[in-house]
Amino acid sequence: MGEFSHIKVLMNGRFVDWDDANVHVTTHALLYGTGVFEGIRGYYNEARKQMFILKLKDHVKRLFKNMRLLRLSLSLTADELAKEIIELIRLNDFREDVYIRPAIYFGPGSVGLDPSSHDIDYFVFAMPFGKYLDTEKGISACVCSWRRITDNMLPPRGKIIGAYVNSVLAKQEAIANGYDEAILLTKDDFVCEGSGENIFLVRNELLLTPPVYADILEGITRASLIELAGDLKHEVIERQIGRTELYIADEVFLCGTGAEVTPVVSIDGQLINDGKIGPITKELKDKYFKIVRGNENRYASWLTPVY
Ligand SMILES: Cc1ncc(COP(=O)(O)O)c(C=O)c1O
Repeated sequence: MGEFSHIKVLMNGRFVDWDDANVHVTTHALLYGTGVFEGIRGYYNEARKQMFILKLKDHVKRLFKNMRLLRLSLSLTADELAKEIIELIRLNDFREDVYIRPAIYFGPGSVGLDPSSHDIDYFVFAMPFGKYLDTEKGISACVCSWRRITDNMLPPRGKIIGAYVNSVLAKQEAIANGYDEAILLTKDDFVCEGSGENIFLVRNELLLTPPVYADILEGITRASLIELAGDLKHEVIERQIGRTELYIADEVFLCGTGAEVTPVVSIDGQLINDGKIGPITKELKDKYFKIVRGNENRYASWLTPVY
């Protein structure tokens, strides 16, 4: 714990020490995974001495929508939670890039499955965070043997804590077999997404990505890149993608809050674009990195300044 001991954590409206940010063993979310969460990034602009939180409103809005899937409710509004998140970053006076993790979940009580008698608790923690995947060199990926959970089974769109076991199994398999990341197929064997990222392919200069009804998480980065691609005059088509389209694609990249824009340079040991980062991936990636650090005025509305 030592390295983070100085950091304050927000728990149910109170700022507590990192080492005191604990939950009880009967917490329903610990026993059964019954909570929803978000992953948000803050980018520090050294020249301007400013922290920019990326798409804060969209993340908080998604969190509150997803609460409905688990019949969770909170006395706080989405705007109030967003304000508390900003306050948390200010209080900790972070001067480097951070990752922010809010979660709303069923708290302690009895061991029954019905959580309706449990309190609904929430926390937000933030910590310094650099790269999640290698966005510079690109990564290797495999099509893993685990299939993505379905909307009628455990909705991936919900960002539900317990649902992430599916992603963890996929990631563990990829790492155990020497790959950086896993690509999951849907139960019907179409391309779905990475363990913690949405996926785009480039074929004949068209960008392809699976639609929101294909058991993906409705990624905020995905939506941002669709907007950005449009602005850069690239056509994006949302459609089912067959597995073998991955191997013959001109370019493949993963995207997400953590992964940002990560080129995939090989899949199952086969090189994509001869193992080099493709031009459309590079164009989107370079633009994205400028935007998130507050160096593109046109996209200033994506960012919430903290200081
Ligand atoms: C399974 C999964 N897909 C996609 C994403 C990307 O979503 P976002 O861009 O909203 O971070 C994430 C989270 O980062 C994820 O966990």
